[in-house]
Amino acid sequence: MTRSLTIGRHTARFPLIQGGMGVRISGGNLAGHVARCGGIGLIATAGIGLNSPHYDGRNFFTADPLALKDEIRKAYEIAPDGIIGTNCMVAVTNFDEMVRVSCEAGVKLIVAGAGLPMNLPELTADWPEVALVPIVSSVKAAELIARKWHKGHGRLPDAIVVEDPDTAGGHLGEKLEKIGSGEYDHYGTVRGVKAYFRESFGVEIPVIAAGGVWDRADLLHALKEGADGVQMASRFVCTKECDASDAYKQAYLDCGKEDIGLLMSPAGLPGRAILRNVEQVRQRDVDFDVICPSGCLKKCTYKAGQERFCIVHALDRAQRGDVDTGLIFCGTNAWKSDRITTVQEVFDELFDLKK
Ligand SMILES: Cc1cc2nc3c(=O)[nH]c(=O)nc-3n(C[C@H](O)[C@H](O)[C@H](O)COP(=O)(O)O)c2cc1C
Repeated sequence: MTRSLTIGRHTARFPLIQGGMGVRISGGNLAGHVARCGGIGLIATAGIGLNSPHYDGRNFFTADPLALKDEIRKAYEIAPDGIIGTNCMVAVTNFDEMVRVSCEAGVKLIVAGAGLPMNLPELTADWPEVALVPIVSSVKAAELIARKWHKGHGRLPDAIVVEDPDTAGGHLGEKLEKIGSGEYDHYGTVRGVKAYFRESFGVEIPVIAAGGVWDRADLLHALKEGADGVQMASRFVCTKECDASDAYKQAYLDCGKEDIGLLMSPAGLPGRAILRNVEQVRQRDVDFDVICPSGCLKKCTYKAGQERFCIVHALDRAQRGDVDTGLIFCGTNAWKSDRITTVQEVFDELFDLKK
């Protein structure tokens, strides 16, 4: 397969985006290696400052931009001509700043989810070469974004990621009770988004399918069903280059299908994770009587009423290797991880490069 993927002014050799994985699961090392192999590598900006040399336990908002610049630099050292982007979550308090810092540091695209990125064109107006890619789970969400961007800024998304709430990892853009109900039609949504832009604006924008793509068969299926590319995250966790701790990767290797499920995140969105230790994740913040340490989310039930637990620090603990009280996000396919591999080996399998 020789199909490439062009998003805005940037063309990747292979139609693959490595999905952003927050709180340093996809940092500069993973993103850089994916870009070097010919895909698009994304550094997740959410909580990137935690577990960086810039964080002193109190300065979340100062550490985040400094750490982000370090990670972008690191990624470009690995892949000087590669396509490096960031994943920015609309729901986080410092969304605007992380978008601007990404542009200043030279990313080629911004993929934005966990909310509708209505102000993204205005934040990036000084960097027209940076491609803008919202993540949605419905045609309706794509329409809302497109209308607002077009009316306000004469701009349309350069691509759209359509994320499947029934399979993707991390925070999900669908109501908890609807997930897994069988109502959601992922590739119908992919084709619907594509048709919407064609019919309403006369443009063909790339639509990328995210969620549940694990191997070459899944990739070929996605392309056959109308996607222009895929975004994959869980598959990259058990690579040598992934920025998570060894214990985090081991938790993927050890988990079974039955361990993966849904929980309500204090961010007000459902999330998919390894559920084995979720009671310990919750109990930890009760035992330590922690109060909201960072204020990282715009809306947070933990910040507002100490309900449940602090999500960003739970994800951070797991990233560092505390898989007892840390939260491990994953997609429904994570149980398929059976060894630590390399990013190149993943590309070899996906694109049949070792013939
Ligand atoms: C560990 C983990 C962390 C994630 N963090 C984020 C994030 O910070 N922002 C985001 O938009 N999506 C996040 N996601 C979603 C992925 O980017 C991706 O769209 C999705 O997981 C794709 O499904 P797959 O894991 O089956 O390949 C995360 C996924 C995982 C597995």
